[in-house]
Amino acid sequence: MEKEKNKSVLLLESFYQLVSAILGQTMNSEAELRRIMSDNVTGFGTGKHEIFNSYEEFIEKIYKVFGKQLPADAKLYFFDVQYTMLDTVGIVYGTYEINYKLDGVENHYHGRRSTVFEWNNDCWHAIHLHVSEPSAHLAEGESFPIKALKAQNEELKKQVNLKTEELYNSLRNLQDTQQQLIQSEKMASLGELTAGIAHEIQNPLNFVNNFSEVNKELLLEMKDEIDKGNITEAKLLADSLIDNQEKINQHGKRADAIVKGMLQHSRATSGKKEPTDINALADEYLRLAYHGLRAKDKSFNATMKTDLDASVQKIDINPQDIGRVILNLINNAFYAVNEKKQQEPDGYEPTILVSTIKCNGKVQINVSDNGSGIPQKVLDKVFQPFFTTKPTGQGTGLGLSLSYDIIKAHGGEIKVETKEGEFSKFILVLPAFAYL
Ligand SMILES: Nc1ncnc2c1ncn2[C@@H]1O[C@H](COP(=O)(O)OP(=O)(O)OP(=O)(O)O)[C@@H](O)[C@H]1O
Ligand SMILES: [Mg+2]
Repeated sequence: MEKEKNKSVLLLESFYQLVSAILGQTMNSEAELRRIMSDNVTGFGTGKHEIFNSYEEFIEKIYKVFGKQLPADAKLYFFDVQYTMLDTVGIVYGTYEINYKLDGVENHYHGRRSTVFEWNNDCWHAIHLHVSEPSAHLAEGESFPIKALKAQNEELKKQVNLKTEELYNSLRNLQDTQQQLIQSEKMASLGELTAGIAHEIQNPLNFVNNFSEVNKELLLEMKDEIDKGNITEAKLLADSLIDNQEKINQHGKRADAIVKGMLQHSRATSGKKEPTDINALADEYLRLAYHGLRAKDKSFNATMKTDLDASVQKIDINPQDIGRVILNLINNAFYAVNEKKQQEPDGYEPTILVSTIKCNGKVQINVSDNGSGIPQKVLDKVFQPFFTTKPTGQGTGLGLSLSYDIIKAHGGEIKVETKEGEFSKFILVLPAFAYL
């Protein structure tokens, strides 16, 4: 009887020692394992590959991989340990908890272990062991961690909501900043514009003032000559007066054009939008520009081509404003081909192509010409108000800056592709959906 009691105490002791040694919590764990485990021990761990059929395999596949992973000061507690003894076979099963700190954070690990021992040479030897992890995720009465998964889903949902809100907030911030940027850009361009106007108008005004003063002197001189009876002299003075008067008129017109351009600028974004047939509009303005130029210069000629995408439906735009943009692009194109024609008259065929394309919910209107192209150093400035390479009286340099404003006000984009001496292509991209 006494011996039987001893055997059961030894059985439980062996179990404790075995678990401690497997977890690397004993001084000389490997020697301890060698003593307690049978050569032919079999068993399973919790993982898919944790299966062994001998002591060697156990050491290689389990102990060397998973043992000693716990910090040395981990605390191991057993509870609910049960055993059964049948003569030379003992079965022990129980639960344990390991408490350990990792990076300063307290962790708890729960394990279940059942071990079959064989009594041999007055000693218990483990012949089969089985580890399982009563998952911390399993709730009372569950075989599958449904509750834990649900909770996890809830947690994920919460996090997604949180992140979404964070995203919304940063989007709102971004939009605010963008708004402020647009505002300050507007202010800056307004400042730029005001300075530009002052400068631009100052020039023709100076001419007008200077020439009218000169003319006054000339008129006084003319009176003198008439008094003296020098008609020839007087006529020469009259010729100078006519020349100067023409210059005054030219510069006056320039100032007029600048003011008109400015007025267009100021109402560039106020136009009402309505469903408009872009193809018809492009076609109409191409003709308008052509006849306008022909009226000014009879020798002017160019091949006009259109390639209009029939799938482009009506889009919501202000037809006058967009018309003005197209007209300016076409006028610029005609100017560029005309320039080139004058430089290389033979074999050069001035060509303007207006095309439309619908893609990705947007409509593109392209105005291309095989004219002089735009040099890189000019390209950066073409959208600036008053930037022009044209001689006085031919351009105010407001066309593209006005076009830019109009296209922006329509939520669109204006881009340019060019090769110096070969071609220029201005691309307008407009949203094809009803624009709010
Ligand atoms: N198709 C083109 N080919 C070559 N250069 C161009 C073309 N379009 C524009 N440019 C260049 O960009 C400049 C600015 O064009 P923008 O339309 O703003 O003004 P402008 O035509 O000079 O004057 P405005 O349009 O006010 O009469 C032009 O002077 C020219 O140098
Ligand atoms: Mg222009």
